[in-house]
This record gives sequence, C-alpha cells and structure tokens, in this order.
Amino acid sequence: MSTAINSNKSKITTHVLQEMKLKGEKIAMLTAYDFSFAKILDTSGIDVILVGDSASNVMAGYDSTLPITLNDMIYHASSVVRAAKRPLVVVDLPFGTYQGNSKEALVSAIRIMKESGANAVKLEGGEEILESIKRIISAGIPVMGHLGLTPQSIHKFGTYVVRATEDKEANQLRLDSKLLEEAGCFAIILEKIPAKLAAEVTQSVRIPVIGIGAGGGVDGQVLVLHDMLGITQDFSPRFLRRYHNLKEEVMGSVQAYIKDVKSQDFPNEREQY
Ligand code: KIV
Repeated sequence: MSTAINSNKSKITTHVLQEMKLKGEKIAMLTAYDFSFAKILDTSGIDVILVGDSASNVMAGYDSTLPITLNDMIYHASSVVRAAKRPLVVVDLPFGTYQGNSKEALVSAIRIMKESGANAVKLEGGEEILESIKRIISAGIPVMGHLGLTPQSIHKFGTYVVRATEDKEANQLRLDSKLLEEAGCFAIILEKIPAKLAAEVTQSVRIPVIGIGAGGGVDGQVLVLHDMLGITQDFSPRFLRRYHNLKEEVMGSVQAYIKDVKSQDFPNEREQY
C-alpha cells in the first residue's frame, strides 16, 4: 500500500484518480468555496477540491444545504477555479436543479461547467436520479455520485444519524453503487455509513470511493475545510478530525487589533505615510 503524497505538479484528472485507486494511493479531498482558500489548497498537494453545497451552511449561514441556488454555486465554483490549477474541481449540483427531470439536470450541469470552468459535477442519490446522471455523462461531463447520508434529503431522513445500518437501506446502497458505476460515474462519495459496508462497496466497484464518516476501508477521504480547520465549531461528529482551532486564533487576532486601535497603539509611526 503506497503512502506517497501525490506531489506531481500535473493536473489531477478523473483518470489520475482511477490510477490512484489501482495503485492503492489514497485520495485526499477537501471543500473550498472561495479564491483565497482554494489558492492555499492548490499548492498544498490536495488531489480534489469539492465546491460543496455545504457552502449553504458554511458560507451563507443557512441551516441546511437546500436553499443554495445554481447561481450561488457557479459564483463559488468560478472563484475556486480561478485559483485551483492542479486539483480536480468538483461542484455540487444544488437541490432542485436535477431531481425533477433529466433535461433540466443537463442544463444545470452545463451551466456549471461553462460558467465556472469546473472539471466535474456531483449529484446526490442513486437509482432515483439515474436518468439525470446518464444524460449528464452522455454530454461528456464527468459525474461523481454521492450515497449514504445525502444532506439534500434531510427532510426525508429527519435526522443526521448514520445511514444504511439496516439491511434494506444497506442493500439499496449496494445496488446504487453498482448502478452509478455502470452509468459511468468516475467516483462515489459515501457519507456517514458503517465502515464495514463502505469497505465492502469499495471492493465491489472499480471506481474510486471517497468517504466522509465511512471509515478507512475506502479509496480516499473528504472533509469540510471549515470544520477540519476549527473555524466552524458547532458541529462535532465522531468522524471529524480537527487539525486546528482557527476560530480561537482569529478571535485572538481580532481582539488584539481592537485593543491596539482603542489604545491608539495602531497605527504607529512606521505604519503611516
Ligand atoms: O457539500 C459538501 O460539502 C459535501 C461533502 C460533505 C461530501 O457534499
């Protein structure tokens, strides 16, 4: 099993991800929604940037991913694309832009690709949206699937608990992963499902499977950048490893600035013209 960081400077494509699965090199994916963070991620060695509809929560402050619009996603995606030269950039199709009919799904996907310059789109769901997935892929647009806890269906689930713990849902997830692979998806996200099931699905499909709360037996991991950096702190699921406490650091800097302004320490002689 390789542990090498994919530091090769050339652009990551869907084919590179496929090779990484074959070689056993894990895929590292994070979200980004703006130019400044995407620029840091671009030089970090990250393989995939997801312009997730979690922007609805993280950037806009809504309590679900449902309100974000296609125009909002295109705005975030085009900001990220301007910075991300090396990682593959995948963009979520937001709620309501693909579930209803496959022609509308294709129009939404084309708008994202044309207006943002992204490399691929992601859709949540399996069998029920297969027609949309096939139509988008037939237009030459790479599609990443997303199964398990699909946040756009939160009102159906009623809760953010682990999915597919019962046989019926687990069997549907097994079937859906096969259907997504056969339809031509280049990868699948599995969110918040038992690690054993995720590992089994990963073995059963040839395309890369990327997990979030799906254990270590998958081909790669994705986290929401603001969660792993500790900017957002009101959300602490078991699967979230925090690498920093940026909220505290930002707070400290802002408070130091306020103090300096109030005490007239800032600006000093060298900080003026
Ligand atoms: O929108 C998002 O950030 C996502 C990830 C949690 C996979 O879909």
